[in-house]
Amino acid sequence: MSDRMTKPVLLIVMDGWGMGSGGPEDAIARANTPVFDRLWSDYAHTTLMTHGPYVGLPAKNDMGGSEVGHLTMGAGMILDQGPTRINKAFADGSFLKSKALTKVMAAVESGGTLHLMGLLSDGNIHSHLDHFKKLINFAFDSGVKSLRVHALLDGRDVGIHTAQKYVCELEEDFVFINSRDGFDYRFASGGGRERIVMDRDRDWSKVEEGWNLMVHGTGAHRFPSMISAIEHMRAEKPGLIDQDMPGFVVVDEADRPVGPICDGDAVVMVNFRGDRAIEITEAFELDEFDGFDRGNRPDVVFAGMMVYDEDRNLPALQLMGPTKVDNPFGRRILELGIKQFRLTETQKYPHVTFFFNGGYRKPLDDTMEDYILIPSDKGVSFSEAPAMKANEIADRAVELIESGEYGFGLINFANADMVGHCGRMEPAIAAIETVDGAVGRIVEALAKVGGAALITADHGNAEEMMVYAKGGAEEASTKHSINPVPCILFDPAYDGSYTLRQPDDEQSTQTQPGLAHLAATLFEAMGQPVPDDLLPSLIQRS
Ligand code: 3PG
Ligand code: CO
Repeated sequence: MSDRMTKPVLLIVMDGWGMGSGGPEDAIARANTPVFDRLWSDYAHTTLMTHGPYVGLPAKNDMGGSEVGHLTMGAGMILDQGPTRINKAFADGSFLKSKALTKVMAAVESGGTLHLMGLLSDGNIHSHLDHFKKLINFAFDSGVKSLRVHALLDGRDVGIHTAQKYVCELEEDFVFINSRDGFDYRFASGGGRERIVMDRDRDWSKVEEGWNLMVHGTGAHRFPSMISAIEHMRAEKPGLIDQDMPGFVVVDEADRPVGPICDGDAVVMVNFRGDRAIEITEAFELDEFDGFDRGNRPDVVFAGMMVYDEDRNLPALQLMGPTKVDNPFGRRILELGIKQFRLTETQKYPHVTFFFNGGYRKPLDDTMEDYILIPSDKGVSFSEAPAMKANEIADRAVELIESGEYGFGLINFANADMVGHCGRMEPAIAAIETVDGAVGRIVEALAKVGGAALITADHGNAEEMMVYAKGGAEEASTKHSINPVPCILFDPAYDGSYTLRQPDDEQSTQTQPGLAHLAATLFEAMGQPVPDDLLPSLIQRS
């Protein structure tokens, strides 16, 4: 091997791999993970916080997600995330006074309908029910007479059968509002988020189905109300998880859709997170669009809760500005002349690009940054193919390491998260075992060139495949957890002369080891000075 080989330092994110109780619900403890076990015992390690205030989320027990996790890792500090900023803007009144919202309300002043579309839950990963409620109340106070909600059912960031609860909460508001003269607020369409609209892998058939339900009011499943739709589907397929519910239209007695989206209406996408909101936004916003045949595209004022694609400034109208990361890790190392790669499968494309970059999607410098994306399987449930693309990612990682060109690489393994979101134990175990083997191949390649890696996760998921409802009943869990995640510094030259800082009882967000400490730790592992605006490195030398 030539002396000019660069020794890479990698950040390997085993998405959704948390530290669980070791009990029967813990797929990670149940899986056979010889690589992980050996790394944990032989190298410096700690556990990291990934939730609530440790990643800039509003509430103490808000689960982390991949957006906030990767943004925090890339920022190297704790920044207010989208929902925190939105809540603050509601609290100080600036949200309701924004120019964008004023434009939306003005658009329907003379009679159009205001449509709210988005994920109807309080999961706070993509959206929050409170934001729907606040917008509904504001529309009412502003005198908007007609409002329709197009509800994407969750069951992925919240309990698996919770859709009715959220629907009923809005129905209560509608009863009050509709008792006033001339007001007509109601649900117009719905469907599980995995079935319609919220795709993030260019599977346009899901977006098309949602478009047809919401915009044209066409679709095979037609019901007189949200609740009747949900009840019918649950009865037809017991155990059906909310995220998988077929899409449907709410219709009147004459089978006419109660709320198609028409010329002169306004549409607000209530989701604040961009990865699963951008495709439907493109369908509404782009003149040149080849995702599917939109039929008659209505002439509407469209707004998004936040920006979903900063590079293209989409949507043009945003109720809240983007969360800014002034100096993300990727740009800092670019300025140091360190060549980098990002590697994952397309399901996690946003994570290693615009989430980690705190905004930009494309390399800032093509000669110094390679973003490598392996196409994810389409049209199958990941629980049927739990290996996903982990082996292909490992193959590619080995090549990149052996090339001797890169000083840094970010790799994301989707398996523990994506299969964890399906809520089934056996596939989750298979997913974890595949990741374990893939990581083993990568560390072997690193050892040969004298490279190193921080091996960690952005949040937990697969270590909590079941939750226990009141009375002790077991229920599958598809959502993330608030458990800490492992963090190992794999370093083939490790001689025991340093440790990684351990969690303490103080729970301070600045000192408790968390995702925000990884950027400084990477600088130190790369032998670079640590920028002093970052939260400190976790490495403690004796
Ligand atoms: C999803 O979008 O799949 C879940 O809501 C969150 O998962 P992620 O934050 O791990 O992408
Ligand atoms: Co996830």
